[in-house]
Amino acid sequence: MGRRGLSRAIKRVDVPPEALARYVISWRFEDELSLCGRALPDITARALFGVEAPLELEVGCGTGEFLCALAQSHPERCFLGVDPSTQSLRFAAGLAFEANLDNLRLVRAPVSGLYPHLVPEALSATYVHFPDPYVRSRRVHKVVNADFFSRLARATRTDGTLSLVSDHEALFFEALALVEAAQADWERTHNERFLRGFTPPVKSRYQLKWERYRVEALRFEARRRQSASSR
Ligand SMILES: C[S@@+](CC[C@H](N)C(=O)[O-])C[C@H]1O[C@@H](n2cnc3c(N)ncnc32)[C@H](O)[C@@H]1O
Repeated sequence: MGRRGLSRAIKRVDVPPEALARYVISWRFEDELSLCGRALPDITARALFGVEAPLELEVGCGTGEFLCALAQSHPERCFLGVDPSTQSLRFAAGLAFEANLDNLRLVRAPVSGLYPHLVPEALSATYVHFPDPYVRSRRVHKVVNADFFSRLARATRTDGTLSLVSDHEALFFEALALVEAAQADWERTHNERFLRGFTPPVKSRYQLKWERYRVEALRFEARRRQSASSR
């Protein structure tokens, strides 16, 4: 199966309405434009969960296996997944519901829908794992672009991390070059320019499927440098 087929293969699953109500926040372009209220809360642990805790974000969380596993292993942290795919988020909400997670929310939106709601230094980690290589507008990738990394830097606290994994070499090196160019904001956490392979405790649906084709994942992790304003 080609990559596009793989991305389209998420089947609609039946999940209890309370799972959707508990976990999924839907972003609507119309609400963003209206003057009478904001569709999304601020992207902080306090606004989303009512607590002060580290907040971790997965961009393009898909069906949520990786994020739900993280949330289960770290109840002391809060987790937010963002993805525009309704079917994927239905699946992710079902997983979160089964595990009765209190520390996870899902936003149905493209990542750009979060931008007006990002708060300086609110994030402690961000995961961009297996971004779809084909989502581009006028050749600029819709997630992996300079604007994204710069907004993310402002929203990440000092020493907060960014993990990017991809099986698509061209997209991976495009992302790596953008982060290397933003060296006032990000520094690598490893000596090697990049790492080969990725073995989290729980692999995502996409990673498992792609590994069957023996395609190696490439990875880098970067740490947020102290910003000039907080020095
Ligand atoms: C290849 S899948 C990987 C999903 C998941 N990270 C995994 O490892 O299974 C890429 C995901 O990115 C999502 N996506 C596409 N465009 C996006 C955007 N503009 N913002 C956020 N996510 C997006 C897709 O809906 C899809 O779920």
